[in-house]
Amino acid sequence: MTALERDSVNRELIGQWSDAEHLAAIRGEGGREHWIVEREGERAGYLIAYDRRASGTGIYVKRILVGEKELGTGTEALRAFLDDAFGRRAATEVWLIVRDGNDRARAVYLKLGFVPFEPAAEVAALYDRVNEAPPEKCGRMRITSPR
Ligand SMILES: CC(C)(COP(=O)(O)OP(=O)(O)OC[C@H]1O[C@@H](n2cnc3c(N)ncnc32)[C@H](O)[C@@H]1OP(=O)(O)O)[C@@H](O)C(=O)NCCC(=O)NCCS
Repeated sequence: MTALERDSVNRELIGQWSDAEHLAAIRGEGGREHWIVEREGERAGYLIAYDRRASGTGIYVKRILVGEKELGTGTEALRAFLDDAFGRRAATEVWLIVRDGNDRARAVYLKLGFVPFEPAAEVAALYDRVNEAPPEKCGRMRITSPR
C-alpha cells in the first residue's frame, strides 16, 4: 500500500502515510477502517475511512486509491462503500476532501452524487479535527443519500 501511495502517479494526489499509520488503521484504532478493494478476485487498491458518526460528522473517507486507473474500479468500490454506509450502517453523511486539479477523482465523486460543501460555523471545528491536516488547495465534498 505504501508503495502504491508513493508511486509517482499517485503521490501528488493523496496524502502519504507510514506503514505504522496504515497498520493502526487496519487495527481499527480511533474508529478507522481499512478496506481492500478487489477486482475480479485480485487486490486492486484500498479505501480508508473514519467513522465519526458519534461526533456528528458522519463517515469521512480519508483515502481511496486503485492501482490500475479508469477501469471503473474506483467508482464501483466507492459505490459499494456508500451502499454499506447508507444501508447497513444507516449513515446520514459521507464526506471527503479532494485536491484542486484531481479531476478524475472529482468526476467519480460527482458521478456518485457528492456535492461540494462547507460545514456550518458551529461544527466546522469538528470537521477540521477529523480531516487532520488537509492540503492547501482542496475542497470538501459530501453525499447525504445514495444515488
Ligand atoms: C480516483 C480513483 C480512486 C478513481 O478510480 P478509477 O478506477 O480510476 O476511476 P473510474 O474508472 O471508476 O472512473 C474514472 C472517471 O473519471 C473520468 N475522468 C478521468 N480523467 C478525467 C479528467 N481529467 N477530467 C474529468 N473526468 C475524468 C473518467 O471518464 C471516468 O468517468 P466515466 O466512468 O463517467 O467515464 C483512482 O483514479 C486513483 O486511485 N487515483 C489516484 C489516487 C487519488 O486521486 N485518490 C483520490 C483522492 S481524493
